[in-house]
Order: sequence, then C-alpha cells, then structure tokens
Amino acid sequence: MADYADKLIGAHETIRNLQGLIDRVAKSPARTVLIYGETGTGKGLVARIIHAKSSRAGKEFADINCAAIPANLMESELFGHEKGAFTGATERKIGLVEAANKGSIFLDEIRELDLTLQAKLLSLLDSYQFRRVGAVRMTPVDVRFIAATNKVLLSEVKAGNFREDLYYRLQVIALNIPPLRERGEDVLILARHFIDKFNRQYGRTISGLSPEVREIFLRYPWPGNVRELENLLERIFILEDDDEVLPRHMPDRILRTVRAGRDTVPSVEEAAGEAPAKGFHDATANFQRDLIAQALSATGHNIQDAAAMLKISRHALRHQMIKLEMREA
Ligand SMILES: Nc1ncnc2c1ncn2[C@@H]1O[C@H](COP(=O)(O)OP(=O)(O)OP(=O)(O)O)[C@@H](O)[C@H]1O
Ligand SMILES: [Mg+2]
Repeated sequence: MADYADKLIGAHETIRNLQGLIDRVAKSPARTVLIYGETGTGKGLVARIIHAKSSRAGKEFADINCAAIPANLMESELFGHEKGAFTGATERKIGLVEAANKGSIFLDEIRELDLTLQAKLLSLLDSYQFRRVGAVRMTPVDVRFIAATNKVLLSEVKAGNFREDLYYRLQVIALNIPPLRERGEDVLILARHFIDKFNRQYGRTISGLSPEVREIFLRYPWPGNVRELENLLERIFILEDDDEVLPRHMPDRILRTVRAGRDTVPSVEEAAGEAPAKGFHDATANFQRDLIAQALSATGHNIQDAAAMLKISRHALRHQMIKLEMREA
C-alpha cells in the first residue's frame, strides 16, 4: 500500500478526479499509462502511487529518466545484452525491463527516447517480448510502462521527433496533472502538508502561513509548481527562526511577480526591486527578466517552448535574454 509519503495531497475537483482515475488505472490491466504535467506537478509521485496501488506493488518499480541516459547506452540499459554483443560486453547483462518483470517501469521524459528505441518499445507493447542486444531469441516479459512528459507530445509527433503510432498507443490512458496555479486553495493544503513534514524532519514548531503569505501563495503563479512550493518552505525552515511563515521570508522574485500581477501597474520602486532604483529602465528590465525566467522555469529551460509561451520567436527570446544580460551573446 501507498504510505503517507506517497499520497497525492489535494482537494480541488481536478485532483479528486485524478485520485479516482489513479485508483482505476492502477487496478486495471493497462500495460501503458501516460502522465502529462508541467515540471514539478507530481508526475513522479503519481507514477509511484500507480505502482503501489497495483497488483504489481510487490515487484520492482524501475525509474528510468530517458534524458539522463545517453542514447547509445539506452538499448542495453533497457533490454540488456548477451556476452560478446559488442566490444566490452564481457558478460551477459539483464536489462531493466527484464529485471522489472511483473513490476512497473517508469519512463520519465519519454520524449527523449530516440526513434529506434521508440520502435522497439512499441514492438514490446504489441508482443510482450523483446530481444536483448546481440540475442537471437526473444524474451517474454510482463511489465507495465508508466511514461511521463512535460511536453505536448503531439507537437513532437508533428516535428518528427516522436512516433505517431507510439503516441496513440500511450494516449489510450493519459492522465493530466494540472499546474498548481489552477488548483485554487490546494496550494494552502499542500503548504500545510509540507510544514507538518518539515516540522517533524527539522524538529520545529512552525505554526503555519501568516495571512499575508496565504494571499501571496494564492496569487503567485508557481511556474515550478509543487516542487517550487516544497523547496521554498524547506529553505525557510533552514534559514529562518520565526514560528510563522512571513512575507519577509519570500524571495524578491515571488514578491515582484505577485505585485506585477495586480490589476494596477507596479510602481517604479516596486518593479525595480531591492536594488537602488534607477527608474523606468530598471523597472521594465526586471519585469521582462521575471517573465522570461518564469517561462524558462515552466518549460524546463527549453528555449523553443518558453518562446512559444511568451508568444515571441525563439530568435527574439534569445535577443532579449542577451540584452537583459541573462545569457552571453
Ligand atoms: N499532490 C501532491 N501531494 C504531495 N506531494 C506532492 C504532490 N505533488 C507533488 N508533490 C511532491 O512535490 C515534489 C515534486 O513532485 P515530482 O517530482 O513528482 O514532480 P514531477 O512532475 O515529476 O517534476 P519534474 O517534471 O521536474 O520531474 C515531490 O517531492 C513530490 O513528492
Ligand atoms: Mg519527475
């Protein structure tokens, strides 16, 4: 069973629906599940819960980040290899897929899986067997693949980076995790959850958020989602001695964004931030930096996606970043 640490916290309608879907999917015979969500929304957590609530719970949960393993090593990592399959293959090696037989395999950042391996994955999903690198015979296997992405896969299909047939296969059971800013007061419930957790972990007795901080949390758009909230609170536990979370514990970035998001334009002093204000130029430059930083953080630092989010060209975004001294020319 999922323990306390593996619980999807939240009461918003979208999260309650998601909790229901997770239960059904976990107990279903589905061989693939696709999880979509912005960075930090809880994709890894949802994958672990699906495994923990399934009949596969007693077996392996293999966690593979497709972006972290070099493409040329990925096939042998996943499928293993026979002795002598390639230079350096001095022993037979069992791959992650075989080791996770009867269990689940979490393929994080599935978009990064290269096209040849996408084809091999699809063939495995169709036949329940695969070939070790250098092997003649196929090996049968029973695993569930839980894939995750923070990219809209359909545009990857159109760009030729992702196989259309695999896309439709994964799309059959797709779970969408909404960004934190669309979950209403869940941000406060999650803050409570993390404060309780860090109180235990750090032996503290922080009572909660001050009323002003509750307002700030409800207004801030949380580009880094739940992870950003968790990291922010942990930083406060480490650096601050107060018994309540206060506005002055908030980083400038958050205060500036919240002020800028109000209906009124921020004053020049406000927008120029803590640095000695130099007027209109600094204020607008700071505002632009914030917008760009948010878009980058929300898209996992993908320039193309960040530009699309800001509705400017990739070239224009690069140019702005150089001008704002956010990157080298
Ligand atoms: N609804 C939730 N309830 C409790 N904890 C949560 C929830 N959502 C996320 N978390 C916690 O927030 C952190 C970030 O979640 P997770 O790593 O699953 O996000 P992710 O979507 O996989 O992020 P990335 O795209 O960066 O890999 C983890 O510590 C996770 O346990
Ligand atoms: Mg993750």
